[in-house]
Amino acid sequence: MTEESARDGVFAADGGSSRGDEGVVRRDRFSGGPARSFLSSLAADERIFEADLEVDRAHTVMLAEQGIVEDDVAGQILTALDAIEVDGHGSLPDGEDVHEAIETAVIERIGAEGGKMHTARSRNDEVAACIRYRLREDVLEAVETTLALRESLVTVAEAHAETIMPGYTHLQPAQPTTVAHWALAYEGAVGRDTERLLEAYGRINESPLGGAAFAGTTFDIDRERAAELLGFDGVVENSMDASSSRDFLLEVTQALSTHATTLSGLAEDVVIFANRSFVDLSDDYSSTSSIMPQKKNPDTLELVRAVAGDAAGGVQGLTTTLKGLPRAYNRDLQRATTHAWETVDAVTEASEVAAGAVATADWNEATLAAEAGEGFSTATGVADLLAANGLPFRTAHEMVAHAAEQGGDYDALEAAAREVLGEPLESLVDPDAVEEALDPAASVASRDSQGGPAPEAVTDQLELARESQSDDRATLEELEAALEAAHETLREEVNGYV
Ligand code: ARG
Repeated sequence: MTEESARDGVFAADGGSSRGDEGVVRRDRFSGGPARSFLSSLAADERIFEADLEVDRAHTVMLAEQGIVEDDVAGQILTALDAIEVDGHGSLPDGEDVHEAIETAVIERIGAEGGKMHTARSRNDEVAACIRYRLREDVLEAVETTLALRESLVTVAEAHAETIMPGYTHLQPAQPTTVAHWALAYEGAVGRDTERLLEAYGRINESPLGGAAFAGTTFDIDRERAAELLGFDGVVENSMDASSSRDFLLEVTQALSTHATTLSGLAEDVVIFANRSFVDLSDDYSSTSSIMPQKKNPDTLELVRAVAGDAAGGVQGLTTTLKGLPRAYNRDLQRATTHAWETVDAVTEASEVAAGAVATADWNEATLAAEAGEGFSTATGVADLLAANGLPFRTAHEMVAHAAEQGGDYDALEAAAREVLGEPLESLVDPDAVEEALDPAASVASRDSQGGPAPEAVTDQLELARESQSDDRATLEELEAALEAAHETLREEVNGYV
């Protein structure tokens, strides 16, 4: 038998198909073989099972509205899809992926007419639509966890606007600050993480459906209508771009990786603070040792810190998979998707855990106050004071550096004034002002420049943080409502056929 006649034979087969009463059998030729499980994404596609059903529904409704598929056939297909949903992903017939398996299940239920569901589309635009559909929910959940974390940080800041703590650069005592100022530093960074996710969302939320294999279709489809039924903001215009591009996956994975990097810094700070008894983590966010009974370890935050590795791995895996892929569709794309799922799961969980750990931690105000002046951390304030009294800042810096070497207290400053400047300290500056500058709390209160740690500067920052959180929360709620509304509209449309 020549290849040609073998193919004809398969095409001509009638009644021999497991997929219905006529036709649709050529796939059988490719359904076995040792690479079957390697080829199949069916298990991983559980994640997009619901999404695929919705995409199938929207596509079928659009086909019926356009007169491409008869209303009664659309009704049968839509009824079958509902039954398939009830049975669940686990009951799907074997298939190369969820798209094929659902189509097979539809045909098993209603016969060959079920094959009309796949008119004017390909699995290429279908899978791209399913990924975008599902990813929207996942990104909104990630956004929600960033907001929860920001709210925890604001709560900490509200409670600790006057809790003085040591601030570090190079992990060396640098200048006293407050717990509120520290918390709001992360609130700002996580706020930008929220924004990056929301921006990525806008580019995910476009419909590739109708791109078909890549080259469009001869059928008079209405892409905008299918997009609307699925709650997409519009369509990815070019059909080749629609079916083959995955930069939306890369963008969101990168945004998640950036957030994971922010989280890792936050986690590291808290691990260090726990080590110094600045903070007590709740038992819920700690572990003990199997051998050392006294241990209370900040394991949750260590794991949060580690998730930056998972996320960077996701970006790397995805970038490497996508790099150099020719247009249009290539099967490599099947393995691209899982990097994004793994990253969004790991980072969302880490963000949620970080929010809980921060919200439930106790700050040890006494320890923090006692340590706030460690390492002559008020030195910069003293140099500022001298500069404010007319000494060039560089000269003041030198004098205070000299004092630092000799203990960094009032006496050391006095000695340094005589040694470096040949003058008594009192002739340069009011001694009471020096005493005040040496006090960590007064030092913090004096740094009231915009964004600084002084309580009144922190009040402004808190207000801005609350405002941006409520803006982002409003955006999140709008986006969630839009998805819900689209879901309900589609259900109503479907109900018109079933
Ligand atoms: N399961 C595939 C994916 O995840 C979609 C199938 C497209 N397959 C194909 N041979 N064109 O990308």
